[in-house]
Amino acid sequence: MQSSTVTKSSGAASAGSADRVEQLLARVPRAVRWVGGADGTLELLDQVALPGEVRYVRCGDVPTIIEAIRMLRVRGAPAIGVAAGFGFCVGVRGAADADAALFRSTAERVAAELIAARPTAVNLAWAVRRVMRAALSETAPPAAAALALREAMEIAAEDEAVCRQIGELGASLIPEGGGVLTHCNAGSLATAAYGTALAPMYVAHAGGRRFRVFADETRPLLQGARLTAFELSAAGIEVSVLCDNAAASVMASGAVQMVIVGADRIAANGDTANKIGTLGVAILARHHGIPFYVAAPRSTFDPACPNGAGIPIEQRSESEVGAMFGHALVPPGVRCVNPAFDVTPAGLISGILTEVGLIKPVTEAGIRGILG
Ligand code: MRU
Repeated sequence: MQSSTVTKSSGAASAGSADRVEQLLARVPRAVRWVGGADGTLELLDQVALPGEVRYVRCGDVPTIIEAIRMLRVRGAPAIGVAAGFGFCVGVRGAADADAALFRSTAERVAAELIAARPTAVNLAWAVRRVMRAALSETAPPAAAALALREAMEIAAEDEAVCRQIGELGASLIPEGGGVLTHCNAGSLATAAYGTALAPMYVAHAGGRRFRVFADETRPLLQGARLTAFELSAAGIEVSVLCDNAAASVMASGAVQMVIVGADRIAANGDTANKIGTLGVAILARHHGIPFYVAAPRSTFDPACPNGAGIPIEQRSESEVGAMFGHALVPPGVRCVNPAFDVTPAGLISGILTEVGLIKPVTEAGIRGILG
């Protein structure tokens, strides 16, 4: 593996403080939960209502799940994958008493519908295909539906474990007494638990490291202000929100020693799609000599995509830019552009932190090494 090995060090939680990390995260609501057994219910934390209200959407059918993904009630690449895995189970269980051919065609239709909900985060298609593959390894529909649920639960449990590992491996990167800037929300709310970019912060904080987080507000939908600030402050980590256009000046002031963000899809060469504005942050970090890290599980890599040019970028409604909280921000008739993600070239990324190590420098060979 072409990577610098990051080992658990003084920034990481010791065995004694492992429970402390869980205690911190117990204050943050889960983004996705499956309540009950085989006949259980998928519940998604309605992140549109945060930070004002903690409420869950019960998802009893596929259209409700797709609406939740499209409207960003559930969002963040790994959380979308976990939700869609369970969504597949919800979608096929009505066919569990049908014949094998009908079960298969239902499975294929449900999978296609879920995968089409949002295009950029590769975890969505990855999770749905994995659950479908598990289901269709069994021809008898009742057993296939049961296998699907088992796989969806495994994906959720794995994501939690993997994010925890990213936190353990990355905690030593968090600068003692320093400032860490992040963009969008790549925290517990964006995953099964712990987060990706925020996981090292939780583990470092639990281990006694002191640092301050700067959260870009992340226009247009304010995931940084509403979600990152919500979960970090709930966990007792010092966090300040800044307008996206203040990042340059805060960096120039010397207050930021490290940038760490999540990812929605990482191409074979390390080019990384993440929330719109990430590219600007990476350019600013390079200008100011600040290390810029990406944290992501291996499920966010897309080895079939050679470079960033091949990553589909979601274009969202103009109204998300042109209006806020029901009030127009631009004159009538003025158009807005709203790409939801941008691509940061590998050359601007100091390292990619995964659950199995840090890829540094970011090279195609290093990425192949961690994907195995
Ligand atoms: O549009 P969103 O809120 O789904 O975008 C989320 C991001 O861009 C996150 O940074 C990314 O998914 C990483 S989440 C661990």
